[in-house]
Amino acid sequence: MDASSKSPVSHDLTASFSLIEKELSAVRSLIVKQLCGKQIHTEQVLRDFSGVGGKMLRAAVVLLCGKTCGQLTRNHINTAAIFELIHNATLLHDDVIDDGKVRRGRATVNAVWGNKSAILLGDLLLSRVFKICAGFDKEVIRIIAAATSDTCEGELRQAHQKNVTEAEYLEIITEKTAVMFSACAYLGAFLSKASKEKLTAMKNFGLNTGIAFQISDDLLDITASEKQTGKTVGRDIDNDKLTLPVVHFTQTAAAKEKAQLLKMLEGKSRFNRRTVFNLLSQNGSIEYSRKMARNYADKAVESLGIIRRSKSVNALVSIALFSGSRS
Ligand code: IPE
Ligand code: IPE
Ligand code: MG
Ligand code: MG
Repeated sequence: MDASSKSPVSHDLTASFSLIEKELSAVRSLIVKQLCGKQIHTEQVLRDFSGVGGKMLRAAVVLLCGKTCGQLTRNHINTAAIFELIHNATLLHDDVIDDGKVRRGRATVNAVWGNKSAILLGDLLLSRVFKICAGFDKEVIRIIAAATSDTCEGELRQAHQKNVTEAEYLEIITEKTAVMFSACAYLGAFLSKASKEKLTAMKNFGLNTGIAFQISDDLLDITASEKQTGKTVGRDIDNDKLTLPVVHFTQTAAAKEKAQLLKMLEGKSRFNRRTVFNLLSQNGSIEYSRKMARNYADKAVESLGIIRRSKSVNALVSIALFSGSRS
């Protein structure tokens, strides 16, 4: 699948998502309920915000890991909704940071209502998260808080750190994206009272899936169009967000090619997305990154090895493979 499909779920994931259709719809309703504002202005901003228009991957991971390890409960629905709300808040803020104009095929809140509204709406979503969390078990709250804090630290680090090595890039995407996937998987299983062994398996599944997912997303920013992804692309490099293809390129390319890219990155020559793609591609940096994404997806699948095969485990496998091969 690529992210171009209008429907939030691809053909490949349709079967996976159909296993949890009823619960996903309950998650969506809960999110919509949380999005109801009291003020007229809030209502207008919310109308332009497609809070349930995404792929709902994080919710799906909570629900499928829960289903794999036992019975789904109201707590799974609440936790899935919480992760989607946090994810939406980070995207609202991320679009301000990246100056993203399009998300989920629509104009972003920052593009329509300005940065202030986008930041405040992100904060509003987080406040709704606190509200739902009030009734949660302490351990669940601890993991949600730790994952949210890592996400913010990862975004902050990426916004400031220059000249990252591959190891540092992997650390950053682990913090900003994979820890949340890992928390979704772990808590889905935890709420189903899974054994220690299964909890570790799910945690690793989520972590590796999240790393694969962000590498693929970073590749799509270079290789895909806005129409295909439904969001603004081509901004990471231009915005000094160092992603794997560029990190690999700077470490392996010949001096002449390196100088050519550097000139563009420093604004000394006009930024041209096609030229950047060609430079990265000819150096093997695109293929290298694709391979890395696939390797992490394979690791995610391996993590599930100790769990008896079932339809929901197969669905998790599809999510991992999708995450590693989107580009
Ligand atoms: C986008 O995540 C942000 C990243 C971590 C790359 P998704 O691609 O899951 O966003 P939606 O929710 O489906 O729009
Ligand atoms: C942001 O990463 C991921 C977050 C944790 C918010 P990106 O900047 O790559 O996300 P997109 O591409 O805008 O969705
Ligand atoms: Mg972004
Ligand atoms: Mg991206």
